[in-house]
Amino acid sequence: MSEPRLRPPTVIAIDGPAGSGKSTVGRALAERLDLTYLDTGAMYRAVAFAAIRQGLDPSDEEPVVAISKALDIKVDDTGVFVGGVDATVEIRGPEVTRAVSMVASYPGVREEMRTRQRIWAAERGGGVIEGRDIGTVVFPDAVLKVYLTASVETRASRRVQEMSDMHYDDVAADIARRDAQDSGRADSPLAEASDAVFLDTTELGVLEVVEQIANLVEEKLGDS
Ligand code: DC
Repeated sequence: MSEPRLRPPTVIAIDGPAGSGKSTVGRALAERLDLTYLDTGAMYRAVAFAAIRQGLDPSDEEPVVAISKALDIKVDDTGVFVGGVDATVEIRGPEVTRAVSMVASYPGVREEMRTRQRIWAAERGGGVIEGRDIGTVVFPDAVLKVYLTASVETRASRRVQEMSDMHYDDVAADIARRDAQDSGRADSPLAEASDAVFLDTTELGVLEVVEQIANLVEEKLGDS
């Protein structure tokens, strides 16, 4: 009897900068296609959260990498759990947001998160996965790669609406800082894959974007 052939996971990769609509679109798309959804940014936020909670300086690379290797992180529909603690709200707060781009720049942290993301996909047969390096590095064979973006003003306004206690100027400055840090790092920086579909969501509603991507997925899967 021949060995069963392992099918590679069916991944839809969504990359793009902060506030480009990746999470909203990714969740809605996963629901529409009946796939599971993974927010990989939440994993990097979980590492930053754990480092801060353990009193580490996020700029201290070695201990932060060590924490990431042993950390119990659970990201699912019910929330984000770090070492069994519900960190769903805190990982979106200003302290973690300030530290996360630095933590995500460490190659040791990225290697660990990439491995976990690949295991996650293999266990589920794939899913909608969003982040910064999903189409370029983590899943170069994704069925469909989408690069979402929007003007800085639109991205900042969306974030202000999500977090009512934040001021527009602070959010815009934070987004610009994170864009620079995420695009400028040496290991798997934020970049558009050469075979990604580019979508500027500045003038588009969520439903419109989801519809466009769902049609592209159906075309791709119909072809294979
Ligand atoms: O999507 P987000 O803002 O929650 O991501 C948090 C940080 O994690 C962001 O500064 C970039 C980083 N990140 C990354 O480097 N690679 C990913 N695949 C996802 C997020």
